[in-house]
This record gives sequence, C-alpha cells and structure tokens, in this order.
Amino acid sequence: MQNTIPPKTYRVKSFGCQMNVYDGERMAELLAEKGITPAPEGKEADLVVLNTCHIREKAAEKVYSDIGRLVKAGREAGKEPLIAVAGCVAQAEGEEIMARAPAVSMVVGPQAYHRLPDMLDRAVAGERATDTDMPPIAKFDALPARRKIGPAAFLTIQEGCDKFCTYCVVPYTRGAEISRPYKDLVTEAHKLVEAGAKEITLLGQNVNAWTGEDDKGRAQGLAGLIRALAQVDGLARIRYTTSHPADMDDAMIAAHGEVDKLMPYLHLPVQSGNDRVLKAMNRSHTADSYLRLLERFRTARPDIALSGDFIVGFPGETEAEFEDTLRLVDTVGYAQAYSFKYSPRPGTPAATMDGQIAKDVMDDRLQRLQAALNRDQLAFNNASVGQRCTVLVERTGKHAGQWLGKSPWLQSVWFEGKAAIGDLVEVELVEAGPNSLAGRLI
Ligand code: SAH
Ligand code: SF4
Ligand code: F3S
Repeated sequence: MQNTIPPKTYRVKSFGCQMNVYDGERMAELLAEKGITPAPEGKEADLVVLNTCHIREKAAEKVYSDIGRLVKAGREAGKEPLIAVAGCVAQAEGEEIMARAPAVSMVVGPQAYHRLPDMLDRAVAGERATDTDMPPIAKFDALPARRKIGPAAFLTIQEGCDKFCTYCVVPYTRGAEISRPYKDLVTEAHKLVEAGAKEITLLGQNVNAWTGEDDKGRAQGLAGLIRALAQVDGLARIRYTTSHPADMDDAMIAAHGEVDKLMPYLHLPVQSGNDRVLKAMNRSHTADSYLRLLERFRTARPDIALSGDFIVGFPGETEAEFEDTLRLVDTVGYAQAYSFKYSPRPGTPAATMDGQIAKDVMDDRLQRLQAALNRDQLAFNNASVGQRCTVLVERTGKHAGQWLGKSPWLQSVWFEGKAAIGDLVEVELVEAGPNSLAGRLI
C-alpha cells in the first residue's frame, strides 16, 4: 500500500441486523469527529465501510463482489477509495479478507470499531490493519457523543450470545453475552432524547438477557431498565429486540401490562414448531412452552402484536415436522414474522449434521410458510381498520403532503395533512394492505 490523501468523505453500508445499523451509526459518528463528511448521494466516497453480516450463506462472497465493484467504480472516477470491512464477516474471516482482497486496508470486528480512527490514520500512511479483539464494553466508553438523530433511535444495551443454537454464528462473531451498565444506558437514553428521539428500541442479540445494577445497587433485569427509561421525560415509546424465550421472565410480562410507554409488540423467535427439531437446534424451549409464554403476554396485554423468526429445512426436518411449524403459526396468528431457509454456517454444529435438506424442498417449505405468515399479517392489518391510534411520524411519503410513521404495533401507517417528522399524531386507521395501512388524521 502507498500513502494516500486523508479521506474527506465516507459512506457506511450496513447489512444484517439492527445492531449493525446501530454500529454503523456509531462508526459514522467517529468519522464525523475526524471531520470526514458523508458522501453526497450518487457520488463515490473516499472511504467506504462495509459493515457486514455473516448470518446466512453467501455473506462473504457478497463482501468480495462489493469490494470489486467499489474498486472498479473508483478507478472509473479516477481514485480508488479506502475500504474498511467491519461487522460479523470481518470478525469471522478477517485474515482471509486481508489475504484475498488487497484493496481492503482495514478489517475491524464488531467489538473493536472504536479503534477505527487510529486504523484510518495508519491506512492513510500506507499500512494495512486488522483488529478483531473483543474487549468487553471498552468500545462504548470510547465512542463520541450522539449526534442529531431521527425520532426513532436504536440503543444497544447488550451484546453477544451464550445460547449456541446449533445453526447460528452469532456466539462466534459477537462473542459472549455482555450487558452495558445501567447508568451508561440511562445517560445515553437522555442524550438520544435531547438529540430528537421520541422512541428508543433497546437492542441486543439476546436483549432480555440484560442484567445490571440500578443507582441504589439493586439487581435489575430488562424490565427494571425499561421502567427506568419510562421515567425519561420526552421519551414517548420504548421497544426492544431480539429476545429469547428462555430469558423471558414474569417481570417482563408484568411490564407489558403496566408500562404505558412500552409498545404492545413482542418479537419472540421460535424457529420451529416441532420439539425434536427444537432440541436439535438447542433452543431450550418446546413448542408448547413457547405457546404458553405467548398466552401469558396476551393476558397481560390483550392487544399485543406478536412477531417471530422461523427456519425451514433444518437438517433432518421431515415433512411432518415442518407441518408442526405451520400448525404453530396457525395457533399464534402472527402480526408479522421473518422466515429463512436453513443455511449451513462453517464452524457451527448443524453444518455437519446428517440429513441436510435439498434446496427444492426448502424452497417449497419456505413458500408455504410465507403464504401462511402473509395471510396472518394481512388479517392482523385488516383487524386494525377502524381503530384509533397514535402514529410516530418518521418521514415524508411519496407524494406531497403525505407522511409515514409507525403505529404502536409497528405497522407502517401513511396519512395526509398537517404534521412534522417527530410528531405523535392521532389517526384513525381506514384501509389495510399487506405491508402498510392508510390513516386519517383526527
Ligand atoms: N438472537 C436472535 C436472532 C439473531 S439471528 C434470536 O435468537 O432470536 C436472526 C434470525 O436469523 C434467527 O432468529 C434465525 O431465524 C435466523 N438464522 C440464524 N442463523 C441461521 C442459519 N444458519 N440459517 C438460516 N437462518 C438463520
Ligand atoms: Fe443465534 Fe440462538 Fe443466540 Fe439467537 S439465541 S443469536 S439464534 S445462538
Ligand atoms: Fe448478522 Fe452479525 Fe447481526 S451475523 S444478524 S450482523 S449479529
């Protein structure tokens, strides 16, 4: 590598989960502190951060093709950009990326990106650097203050995962479960609200495993943290994602019944409706224990919207076992859900299990599952028509005078009339589609 001119503009491209989106925002803040500004829309940036996801197949291949595209576009524009690879592919395959992609000058893991500014100085001096250390919490202490943000903000409260579901790379790419301290989170929540947030979504790979000590030294779980954040003036809404059924407790169920600011929405992945498959996945819950848990949430908060994650075609899954998943979906009636074809991840136990499922079988199962989930999502939206609710306005719509926001149940709602981004407006829901609803201002 040769010396280069320090970059003036950057672009951060985040893939994968909301934690990556949060990390992407924080990296942008670090670069802004160095006086580097976002590249204008449609212009090549001097520095590109690819904030990658490793959860399913082809993630690494996608990184290499993105790098190739950046180099080509840079050559055509007369200067190649500095490229940093961050996120979970960086953590899992950092050395390989360095060996295979000479255009990459920085590889930085999800727990080390606070060191990006230093790495950038070294990259400008012509040095290539990899940092995939996992120092707990250090990152958060080293990050700059939050900048002005939109009305719906993310706040990472917990990272990593100790669950080791047999299909999943997260425990390897994000490391062991760690919780950020209570005090830091309350402070960051205040800062987010000062910067314009009306809603905060608490993030973690396993967010309900969060534990901490409040200012009186008492042990607290996620429910205690939510109750504390509900005291923050100016904060109207609290959400959290993603949770694991095994870490749900009575306090969370009670919080959903009692804390007004906690939105009536629960994303609780189940993955499969069959107990043999769940056991092989090392999920530590059964279909029945999951359903009973959901019933308790529904008792505490009857209007709660339920969401989940599903994997079809886990090794050994039979047609009858898959049908158990369809049955579970019918029983729950999800408001919204994510479903995926099983993807073997190198280094995970499931990748070497017998009975890997053929692609056409997976395609067929995914299609049937998604048909059922789409049917239920539309039914949920249809059932909302006629209701009045608050919408948090997040952006302008396609047409002049149109606004887009979210209902308490995380549905996208558009409406026309006088409003501004960040407003909480009352609407009546008048028309439903599969992915959004139309509202009328009251
Ligand atoms: N921590 C969260 C999930 C993080 S990954 C939880 O346990 O709920 C998000 C989703 O990706 C998972 O819920 C799962 O449905 C899916 N997923 C993870 N690994 C996968 C794999 N190897 N193949 C297909 N889907 C996978
Ligand atoms: Fe992955 Fe399971 Fe941990 Fe979720 S709980 S991140 S699926 S290992
Ligand atoms: Fe992907 Fe890493 Fe999130 S693998 S889903 S970016 S934790």
